[in-house]
Amino acid sequence: MKRFLATLPSLLATFVFVLSAQGADESPAVKAHFVDRNDPAVKDVLRYGINAINRVGVSLVREVNTAMAQGGPEGAVDVCHLKGLPLVNGLVAGMPRITALKRTSFKVRNPANRPDEVDQLALDQVKYLLDHGDEVPPLLVQRVEPAAGNPEWRVYKPVAVMPQCLACHGDPAGQPAGLRAKLTELYPEDQAVGYNTGDWRGLIRVTVADE
Ligand code: HEC
Repeated sequence: MKRFLATLPSLLATFVFVLSAQGADESPAVKAHFVDRNDPAVKDVLRYGINAINRVGVSLVREVNTAMAQGGPEGAVDVCHLKGLPLVNGLVAGMPRITALKRTSFKVRNPANRPDEVDQLALDQVKYLLDHGDEVPPLLVQRVEPAAGNPEWRVYKPVAVMPQCLACHGDPAGQPAGLRAKLTELYPEDQAVGYNTGDWRGLIRVTVADE
């Protein structure tokens, strides 16, 4: 986890990815690039993004801790994690400018959490840094410009596996039979097992609307 706390490597700011969902000779369906989070131009985006991510991150851990204390892992599966946060007028209730919250990973439990093509860039970026032994920044800021529709910002926070996550994301052989059965039933395509404490689990993402 320590390496997640480092400052943004300058190389991140220089990365520009252009995606194409169509043929190479057509204009791309969506363009996305990372922005230096210290750039004054993203000060507000970052402020709204951090507030929302902190709330999501704290709730995620608190929810796991409370549910585990009350019902053990089997009971806790039903409340994990922040499922169905309500959108009011296209915004997450109580979170100004936040139009979406997501948790994603290379290995998802719920297929609904699979990365889209732009999330994929953020996953690839963190993986690249980890593979090269480089510091992973606490947050990544991404500007997304779809060919049609409004541009938006995304703020991502890499999350690590903590000891209390292992009950449901650790070695499946160590899971009680009831929990295993429940996870298999609810998530037949579950890939989110086999983690150890300190592993990189994935990203919490918030989408911040353009002003
Ligand atoms: C009680 C079991 C349980 C515990 C403990 C638990 N999770 Fe999960 N986790 C789940 C379930 C169930 C899902 C699928 C949620 C859904 O349907 O969106 C999930 C999904 C996720 C996802 C979204 C990507 C995916 O795989 O679908 C992330 C990220 C995640 N968990 C991280 C964590 C972290 C970090 C911890 C520890 C703080 C943790 N989990 C602890 C059950 C658990």
